[in-house]
Amino acid sequence: MSTQAYVIDEMISAKAIAARVEALAREISSYFASTEKLVVVGLLRGSFVFIADLVREIDLPIEVDFLEVSSYGNSTESSREVRVLKDLRGEIAGRDVLVVEDIVDTGYTLAHVLKLLETRGPARIEACALLDKPSRREIPVEAKWTGFTIPDEFVVGYGIDYAQRNRNLPHIGKVRFLPEAK
Ligand code: IMP
Ligand code: MG
Repeated sequence: MSTQAYVIDEMISAKAIAARVEALAREISSYFASTEKLVVVGLLRGSFVFIADLVREIDLPIEVDFLEVSSYGNSTESSREVRVLKDLRGEIAGRDVLVVEDIVDTGYTLAHVLKLLETRGPARIEACALLDKPSRREIPVEAKWTGFTIPDEFVVGYGIDYAQRNRNLPHIGKVRFLPEAK
């Protein structure tokens, strides 16, 4: 099945993202100021651009690790089943951990990841999400830090894809599907 034709309308500019990322990093740096070495865990693949910018603004000793969980495949609907595709390389027991996510939508991904990582006994674990769509939430979960709260729109760019495309857009855009040609 081929994907329906669409256009992308800019929703959040690269400049607005950069300013927000800097502010988030400042809050995170002060929150974890006493942490010896913070483990920053990026959820692949959607958070790779966000985490790259975020860590460069965090003024603390950090380690970076990645966790890959399954997501939407090539559709815009959540499967609600979350599987670990690639686990962390490092141990997090006794450590302070920051989970970095691109979008919290239904909440299943972040809730599952936090629950899983909590079983490993971190000292503290918090999450930072670039985007939040609270109107889509199906289970209660919240990132301690959120970049932007957005309406129920399918978005791409700044690491976020639609069917593996558009991750390289420097801004966040809204996907607008075009009517099928008859
Ligand atoms: P959740 O488990 O429903 O909260 O979905 C979280 C994951 O779904 C995110 O990490 C994204 O990878 C993906 N996702 C949710 N909304 C969008 C969107 O608007 N565009 C692209 N991916 C999305
Ligand atoms: Mg994701």
